Amino acid sequence: MLIAIPGVLSKDEVRQAHGQLVQAEWEDGLKTAGTLARSVKRNQQLADGSPLAVELGNAILRKLAANPLFISAALPAKIYPPKFNCYRDGGTYGAHVDSAVMQVPGSSVSVRSDLSATLFFAEPDAYDGGELEIEGPFGVQSVKLQAGDMVLYPSSSLHRVTPVTQGARLAAFFWIQSMVADEGERALLFDLDQSIQSLTPCVAADDGALLKLTGVYHNLLRRWATV
Ligand code: NI
Repeated sequence: MLIAIPGVLSKDEVRQAHGQLVQAEWEDGLKTAGTLARSVKRNQQLADGSPLAVELGNAILRKLAANPLFISAALPAKIYPPKFNCYRDGGTYGAHVDSAVMQVPGSSVSVRSDLSATLFFAEPDAYDGGELEIEGPFGVQSVKLQAGDMVLYPSSSLHRVTPVTQGARLAAFFWIQSMVADEGERALLFDLDQSIQSLTPCVAADDGALLKLTGVYHNLLRRWATV
């Protein structure tokens, strides 16, 4: 399941962050590429732990903690501190699968990557190419969102970033370990929760059917969640 989360950052917030990122010192993305990625990864990244990466990363995490759509879709248990990349001058990242377990730099914390996230900082008309292409059961989906929007997709999927032939594609990327590891179970919970949220304004707060559905949601979550 691929879920777009609009407006994680406001236009003002993303404009300010974009200005900071444009002036940042970028390093070769190969520095953090695994053996297989080395042959397909051509981009730049902010150094882990650099003041700007930490500041913007924390701002993103604060926003996500208060975003009901993100919580509903991801059911996050742990989030890897956001990293930042820049694709320009033909920069690209060929087809790959993200590593299953990520060690948070400078800590003993590990995060299992259930979901991958990309948060866009550049408007789509500011660069050519740079589509995030994700292979799923129904074929390849191509994603290029407005600045401030984020996409969540299964970390198990093959994905790539097409070459950026003009302009610069700036983005944050990170991984989420979900309380519900199984993608199918998580998708069912998301659909159920979204349906309950849509029904809630239409019926009385003590409506019996709504209460039962809410109970089903929580009882499934109790059955499937690992905390
Ligand atoms: Ni990836």
